[in-house]
Amino acid sequence: MALLRTTLLLAVVPVLVFSLPYSEENSQSKRSSGPMCMACSLSDHPSQCSKTITCEEDEVCYVEKVVLTGTTDKFNQGCTRQQFCAQFHGPVVGKRDNTRSRHKDKRVIPLCNECCTGDLCNTNECGAGATTAPPPTVSPNSTTWVRLIGGSNPYEGRVELFHDNRWGTVCDDNWSGENAAVICGMLGFGRDGAGAVPAAGFGHAPSYAHIWLDEVNCTGSETFIDQCPSNGWGQNDCSHNEDAGVICSPMRTQDNFILLVDTGVGGLIFRMDIDTQSFTPIPMNPLYSPTALDYDPTTARIYFVDHALKQLLSVHFSGTDIRELQQLDSNADLEKIAVDPINKVLFYADTGNDFVASINLDGSDFTILANDTVDEPRDLTIDPQRRVVYWTDWGSTPKIEKMNYDGTGRQTIATGNMKWPNGLALDYTTNILYFVDASTDQIEKMNTDGSGRGVVLSDPGSHMFALSLYKQYIYYTDWTRTSVMRVNKDGTGKTTVGPPSFKELADIHIHHYGSGMPGVVTPAPIVQDETHMFVRLVGKGNHNEGLVEVYANGVWGTICDDGWTNADAGVICEMMGFGRTNAAAVKEAYYGSDGNIMIFLDEVNCTGEESHIAQCTLPKDWGVHDCGHNEDAGVNCQLDPTTIKSFVLMADSYTSEVYRMDLETGSYSAIPNSNVYSPIAIDYDPVGHNVFYTDVRSGIIRKTSLDGSTQTDLVQLNRISTPDGLVVDDTNRLLFYTDTGNDVIGKVSIDGSSPTPSNIISTNLDQPRAIAVDKKNQVVYWTDWGNNPKIEKSNYDGSGRQVIANGTGLQLPNGLTYDEKDNKLYFCDAGTNKIEVMNTDGSNRHVLFEDSGAHFFGVDTDEQFIYFSDWTKDGVMRVQKSGINEIPIGPPSFVRVNGVAVYESNTG
Ligand SMILES: *[C@@H]1O[C@H](CO)[C@@H](O)[C@H](O)[C@H]1NC(C)=O
Ligand SMILES: *[C@@H]1O[C@H](CO)[C@@H](O)[C@H](O)[C@H]1NC(C)=O
Ligand SMILES: *[C@@H]1O[C@H](CO)[C@@H](O)[C@H](O)[C@H]1NC(C)=O
Ligand SMILES: *[C@@H]1O[C@H](CO)[C@@H](O)[C@H](O)[C@H]1NC(C)=O
Ligand SMILES: *[C@@H]1O[C@H](CO)[C@@H](O)[C@H](O)[C@H]1NC(C)=O
Ligand SMILES: *[C@@H]1O[C@H](CO)[C@@H](O)[C@H](O)[C@H]1NC(C)=O
Repeated sequence: MALLRTTLLLAVVPVLVFSLPYSEENSQSKRSSGPMCMACSLSDHPSQCSKTITCEEDEVCYVEKVVLTGTTDKFNQGCTRQQFCAQFHGPVVGKRDNTRSRHKDKRVIPLCNECCTGDLCNTNECGAGATTAPPPTVSPNSTTWVRLIGGSNPYEGRVELFHDNRWGTVCDDNWSGENAAVICGMLGFGRDGAGAVPAAGFGHAPSYAHIWLDEVNCTGSETFIDQCPSNGWGQNDCSHNEDAGVICSPMRTQDNFILLVDTGVGGLIFRMDIDTQSFTPIPMNPLYSPTALDYDPTTARIYFVDHALKQLLSVHFSGTDIRELQQLDSNADLEKIAVDPINKVLFYADTGNDFVASINLDGSDFTILANDTVDEPRDLTIDPQRRVVYWTDWGSTPKIEKMNYDGTGRQTIATGNMKWPNGLALDYTTNILYFVDASTDQIEKMNTDGSGRGVVLSDPGSHMFALSLYKQYIYYTDWTRTSVMRVNKDGTGKTTVGPPSFKELADIHIHHYGSGMPGVVTPAPIVQDETHMFVRLVGKGNHNEGLVEVYANGVWGTICDDGWTNADAGVICEMMGFGRTNAAAVKEAYYGSDGNIMIFLDEVNCTGEESHIAQCTLPKDWGVHDCGHNEDAGVNCQLDPTTIKSFVLMADSYTSEVYRMDLETGSYSAIPNSNVYSPIAIDYDPVGHNVFYTDVRSGIIRKTSLDGSTQTDLVQLNRISTPDGLVVDDTNRLLFYTDTGNDVIGKVSIDGSSPTPSNIISTNLDQPRAIAVDKKNQVVYWTDWGNNPKIEKSNYDGSGRQVIANGTGLQLPNGLTYDEKDNKLYFCDAGTNKIEVMNTDGSNRHVLFEDSGAHFFGVDTDEQFIYFSDWTKDGVMRVQKSGINEIPIGPPSFVRVNGVAVYESNTG
C-alpha cells in the first residue's frame, strides 16, 4: 500500500520529514521531561488515540493526517521538535500559571493550537510567548461574510469569503495565526490560539471558484478580514491548492449565535454569529437530515427531528455524539420542537398523528398532552417558569392554544383572522407572543391570554416559516428568501441578515448568553432550586475557603457582600460538605475576584438553618445589584475530615487541578496544588485524611491534606515514568500504582517521611493503567490496555498472578474498581464504550452501561451508584449499579476528568 502524507492537518511547513511512525521501542528510549502527547500511528481518527508519550523537553505534540491510497484517511500523533511550532506564524499561546484554578476561564486557554488540535492538545506544551489582544467589540458593519467549509467540526475549515455577491477563497501566502484569529472572531469563536492551515488543508474549492484575497496581513485584532492589509480584492497569484483554512478554539458558553436549518440542501444545520453574520455548518454524519431544531445551552446539545428516519435526536454542538431520543412511528410528522433545558423536557407538535406531546431529554416519560381537536399542530413555545406550553394549529379551525406542562388548563387564546399560523415565540421580558402566518403573510403579536392582538409586519408574497427573538429584533425565515430576515419588534427596519446563500431556511433558533433559556433576554428567569444551583469556592486560599461563586441557568456569578453574614456563610459551608460550624463570612473580594462574570446576588438572607442556598431568601431579580466586584463575598469554612460529608475526588488534566465535590449538592472547590501539570490517578486515605494523586508530567505521587495546606511528594519516579493508576489501602497503609513508562506495578508505604517504592510486578506488562485492591484478602487487580488488553490480579507480593479477563471484549480498559460490599470488580473501557461488572475470578461478567459516544476513563462505586469520568462530558457522571439513569454530578464545569474516587462519609 502506497503511503503518502499529502495533507498535513496542522503543519504549515510542507516539507516536514518525520521519523518513522511512533513505535513501542523508540517510545521507551525517548521518554524525557517534555510534554505528554498522544502517540499513535495510522489511527482512524485523532480522538481514537489514547496512548500517551512523554516527549523531550524541546518537543511539542503534533497531529498529521495521512492519506493512504485506496482507503480512508489516517492520523499520526506524537512528539516533534519545538522548531516545528516556531515555524507557525500564529501566536503561540502563553504558559499557564500554576496556581489553583480560580476561575472558569482557565479552561479557555487553548494551548498551542498550532501544534496540536483541540482536546488532543496536552496542556503546558508551547512554552513562552504572548497571548493575543482581547477580542474587540463586533458591530455588523461589514458586508463581507465568512463561512468555513470542509472541516470535521464547526470550528475549522477552508475560509470562504462572500464579497461582491459571490463566494471566494483566500490564498495561503503569508497566511498567519493572526489572520486566522480575525476569521475565528468573525465567526464568533475565541481568537486565542487560532491556527492557520495552508495548502488547502481542508480541501480546495473548485477550480472555477474565485480567489478573493492574497497576502493578507492582519494584526489579529481587526473585526473584519477586509480591515487587514492585503493585495486587494481579487488580486492574487495563486491556485486553489493554496486555499487557506483555519482552526478556531471551540465555542464558549458566552457566545451568542443563531442556529439555522436549511432543508433545501437536504437538512444542514448552520451556526451564524449574530453580530458579523458569518456562519459555519455543523458537520454531521450525512445519514441525518435535520428539520426542526432547538438547543440546550446547559449541555451544548442541539435537539432535532430527522424527517426521513422519523427520529427525534440530539447531537453535541460540535457535530459529534448523536443520540436518539425517540423513534417515531411512520405517521409522525414533527415540524417543530421546543426544549426546556431547565426542566429537561422537550415538547413537540406532531401533525401526522395530531397531538402535542412531551418527552424528557433523556428519552423517558413520553406523554401525549393534547389530542382532542388537535388538527394540524405546528410550532410551540414554552414558559418554563410558569410551566406553560403555547402552540399553533393550522388545521380546519386555525388557532393558537395554551396549556400547562401536564396538559391541564388547555385553552384557545386566539382564532380567526389567521390561516396558516406557523412559527410562534414568547418574549420573556414582556411576556408577549409573536407568531408568523404563511397565508396572511403577517407577523402578529398578542398577550399570552390572546388580548391586545395586532399586526407587526405585513409582507405580501412572503412565506414566513419560523421566528426567534433577540433583543429588539424578530429574526425569521421566509421560504421566498435566501437570507435570514430580521425586523424590529415594532415592525420597522426589515432587512436581510448575512449573505443570500441559503436555499430553504426552515427552523431558526437564537441562543443568547446569560439566559440559559433559549431566546430569553437577560435577566433570565432563574430556576432557583436545589438540583439546578451549585456553589464553588475559587480564588486565593486553602480548599475550605475562597470567593463564593454560584451557578444558575448555565452561568457562574458572584455574590455581593452587602448583608453577607456568618449565617449565610454557614449555608455555603454546609453545601460544600464542611458543615456550618465556625463558618465565617469574608467580605470585599478578600480571596480575589473575576471581573468577567456577573454579580448574581445581592442582599442574600439566610437564617443559617438552610441546607442549600436555594432555600434562602434571594432577590427576585438576579443580576440586579448596586455593587462592584470589589465587594465579592467569600467564606472561610472549618474543615474537619472526621465529619466531612460524602464526596468525590476528580483529577482534571486540562485545568491541572484536583477537585473535591460534595456528592449531595454537586458543589466543589479545588485542592490547591503547586507544580502539578497533568493529574491523572487519585484516591483518598480516610484514616490519615490525605488525598493521593499522580502527576504524569513530573512523575510524582503527591500526598496532600484535604485542605491543601500540607503537600508532599510521597514518591518521585524516574524520568520515563507514567503513573496512570493509583489506589490506597488504608488498612495496611499501602499505596499501589501502575507505571506504564517503566512497565511496573509498584507498592509503597503511605506513612513515613521518605518511603521507598518496590515493584511487585515488573514482567509482561504492556500498558498497565487502572489499579484496584481487595484489602481484606490482600489482592491487587489492574488493567492493561496494550496489545493484548486484559485485566489481571496478583497477591500483594506479586505471587499468584493470573489473567481474569482478556480477549476481544476488551480494548482500552481504562478504569477499574473493586467493590468490597458486593465483592465485584467494575471496569470501564474507552474502546468498547462499556462499563462492565464481574466476579473477582472474572466469572459472571456482564455489561451494565454502554454509550457509543463515550470515552470512559476512571470509575468508582458506592452502595448505590457507579461514578465515572467520560472525556466527552463536562464532569463526573453516575449511573445506578443496575446501569440506568445516567446523570452528571454537579455543574458542567470541567474539561478532562481522569481519575475519580468516591468517599462515603460515615457521619451520614
Ligand atoms: C458601524 O456603522 C455605524 C452606523 O453607520 C457607525 O456609527 C459605526 O461607527 C460603525 N462601526 C464601525 C466599527 O465601523
Ligand atoms: C511573505 O511576505 C514577504 C514580505 O512581506 C514576501 O517577501 C514573501 O514573498 C511573502 N511570502 C509568500 C509566500 O508570498
Ligand atoms: C505585515 O505588516 C507589518 C506592519 O504592520 C509589517 O511589518 C510586515 O512586514 C507585514 N508582513 C507581511 C508578510 O507583509
Ligand atoms: C388521546 O390521548 C389520550 C390520553 O393519552 C388517550 O387515552 C387517547 O387514546 C388519545 N386519543 C387518540 C384518538 O389518540
Ligand atoms: C434581606 O434583608 C435586608 C434587611 O432586612 C433587606 O433590606 C433585604 O431586602 C433582604 N433581601 C431580600 C432578598 O429579601
Ligand atoms: C486469555 O488468557 C488465557 C489465560 O492466560 C489464555 O489461555 C488465552 O489464550 C487468552 N486469550 C486471549 C484471546 O488472549
